[in-house]
Amino acid sequence: RGSSSNSRGALVVLEGLDRCGKTTQSSRLVQYLEGLGHSAELWRFPDRTTSVGQMISSYLSNESQLDDHTIHLLFSANRWEKRSLMETKLKGGTTLILDRYSYSGVAFSCAKGLGFEWCKAPEVGLLTPDLVLYLDISPERAAERGGYGCERYEQIEFQNKVAKCYQLLVDSKWQIIDACRPMEDIEKELQEIVLDCVKRCQNGEPLSHLWS
Ligand code: TMP
Repeated sequence: RGSSSNSRGALVVLEGLDRCGKTTQSSRLVQYLEGLGHSAELWRFPDRTTSVGQMISSYLSNESQLDDHTIHLLFSANRWEKRSLMETKLKGGTTLILDRYSYSGVAFSCAKGLGFEWCKAPEVGLLTPDLVLYLDISPERAAERGGYGCERYEQIEFQNKVAKCYQLLVDSKWQIIDACRPMEDIEKELQEIVLDCVKRCQNGEPLSHLWS
């Protein structure tokens, strides 16, 4: 479909606090792109299907305890184990919509008190997203949405810290989306932004690496 020999899929990341709506919006985005005839896949981090992912999943549901640094590195390893497939897919023209990525990795660990630079270090060399959509909602509003479940990080006070850490990561690839509006309004806004990004990548926007 592309107009250039360097045509590729776009790497789009949705980020935000727990229950900000990004899981719903990411799957709608994939449906939308596919409906337009684009090749698109929904990926989610943590990817709980791998063996590293299973360790993460058991930690998140409080079935196991791990040192804060150790779990941080496992989350990162879980992205590294998907890195080469990610590059292959993008170069093959598939757009990837990611439900969380390195930004969650840094924001959640940093909120626990780990050093910001230390948290970023294991992410260096992963692919940089073309676009980061941050679904902005207060932890109080997010918690009202059916309430938090019983996973480890779903507490208002902690989510407030995560929100502050996310702010340290904002750069020119980010778009802050007001996630307190009706779902359909958010959906429309995301569609426009993402389609624009997909077109840029079809025209041969080069891939780069974190953090640059
Ligand atoms: P999920 O609810 O989107 O599956 O994410 C599980 C939890 O893991 C969520 O509270 C965010 C957290 N998380 C990290 O702490 N580090 C990471 O690298 C990722 C991807 C998620």
